Order: sequence, then C-alpha cells, then structure tokens
Amino acid sequence: MDYRIDGRRALVMGASRGLGRAIAEALLAEGVKTAICARDTDRLQKTAKEIGALPFPCDLSQPGAGARLVQEVTARLGGLDILLVNTGGPAPASFETIDEAQWRAGFESLWLSAVSPIRAALPGMRAQKWGRILVVTSVAAREPLPNLMISNALRAGLHGLINALSREIGADGITVNALMPGYTLTERLKEAGFKAEEVAKTVPLGRIGKPEEFAALACFLASEPAGYVTGQAIACDGGLLRSI
Ligand SMILES: NC(=O)c1ccc[n+]([C@@H]2O[C@H](COP(=O)([O-])OP(=O)(O)OC[C@H]3O[C@@H](n4cnc5c(N)ncnc54)[C@H](OP(=O)(O)O)[C@@H]3O)[C@@H](O)[C@H]2O)c1
Repeated sequence: MDYRIDGRRALVMGASRGLGRAIAEALLAEGVKTAICARDTDRLQKTAKEIGALPFPCDLSQPGAGARLVQEVTARLGGLDILLVNTGGPAPASFETIDEAQWRAGFESLWLSAVSPIRAALPGMRAQKWGRILVVTSVAAREPLPNLMISNALRAGLHGLINALSREIGADGITVNALMPGYTLTERLKEAGFKAEEVAKTVPLGRIGKPEEFAALACFLASEPAGYVTGQAIACDGGLLRSI
C-alpha cells in the first residue's frame, strides 16, 4: 500500500529508544521528515544519527515543554503534519503507596504531556486542513494491569479526551487516535521487571510483540489512506485484551 506521506513532517516524542524509535524509523522509511525528542541528550543524538532523524532534547514532564517543543519543531520543519505523543511509563505502584505529589507528577507526565503539544499543534494543522495525531497509551487504559495504578487510572481518561477531541477537529481533516501497546519487547519492559517468557504465556499469540509491529500500526494511522479512522483506541497486543 502506498501511504502517501512522503515529504510530510512529523514529531515523534520519546523516541530515543523503544516504541517511539521504532515509529520514527517507520515514518522515515516512508519519506517523512521526522524530529524526535527525549531527555538523555547523548542517547538522543546517537539515535538521531543512526536513523536519520532531527534530535530535539526535551523533558516532557516539565510544564509547557511539549508546547515549546512543537513550536521549535514546526519552525525547523516548516510545518507539522504528524504528531506522535509518547513518553516513558510511570513506575509500578499500588494505590496506597502513591502520595499526592506522585499523582501530580504522574498527571504532568502522562496527561499534560499529551495535552500541551496537541494544543500547540492544532492551529497549524487546522490551517492546512490535514493532520494526524497519535497518542501512545497502554492496554492498561482498557483493562487495568496489576500494580500499575497511575497508568491504569490516568490513561483511561486520555481515551475520553481523544474521542471527544476527534469531534472538534474532524471537519478540518485532522484525525486523532490512541494506540495501545500490549507487552512489547523494549528496554522499559525489561526495566519494569517483566519476564518475557512468563508474560508471553498470558498472550493468545504466545509471544511478546516486536516494536516494529507496533510501529507498523502507527505508520498506517499516520497515513493518507487512514483518513477515515478517528477517535479510536486501537490495540497491538497479540490478543491480550478480552473486552469486546
Ligand atoms: N513496552 C511495552 O510493553 C509497553 C506496554 C504498554 C504501554 N507501554 C507504554 O508505551 C510508552 C513507551 O514505552 P517504551 O517501552 O517504548 O518505553 P522506553 O523503552 O522506556 O522508551 C521511552 C522513551 O521515551 C523517552 N522519555 C521518557 N520520559 C520522557 C520525558 N519525560 N520527556 C521526553 N522523553 C521521555 C525515553 O528517553 P529518555 O529517558 O532519555 O527521556 C525513551 O526514548 C510508555 O508510556 C509505556 O508505559 C509500553
């Protein structure tokens, strides 16, 4: 299939490794001019060089950082067509171990880090009557996972935002969707203490997902032919979710 996004301009957040990196690589392979961001400048520069992206160091958990990043990238690329919202996940925790400061930090990192760049990207997308907004959430947003309380609680709300927003921006040719990764083999999965062989047994397809499989879904949703898909939360999870 011809995705017809050659020459489009993208910002992929949280993309020095893992799912974000895989998505940036997939977009670059389609001829999309792609900017990436992350906090660790050395790793960001290394990744950018390896894959041919433009690096923008940024900590998305800081107030207003996502909006400033969108403005910088838009100025550098001469516009922005595709915005991929993604950050690292929160630390595992159960309800009674999370204090108010941690809830506020989680809200800043998982919620406002999505709202701030989307608000900044919309005026340009509206003016050009074309845009693709994708937000990486988690299967935890639909079916809570054990000991991931902040992710379970906050990401479900993002799905409400995405569906409601799709109604406000659809007339300008802008789509917005959530992508829900299931267990996918990235550094985070290992760092969060998941054991691949054990987790794989819980997945109907019997294995952990590959970042490039998740990236293929993101790339399609960013494409021209995906223009009639909006307001959805779509999983790439090997069949893990049971809800219909
Ligand atoms: N992998 C899975 O199985 C899985 C499953 C469900 C949901 N998810 C969710 O999907 C998202 C991506 O997961 P992943 O596995 O690709 O994670 P990852 O391997 O930890 O990669 C996260 C990327 O985001 C960057 N990042 C983290 N915090 C940031 C911040 N505050 N500002 C800017 N960049 C930031 C990281 O670089 P720096 O650290 O240098 O900033 C890195 O490039 C996470 O939210 C995760 O919870 C993943």
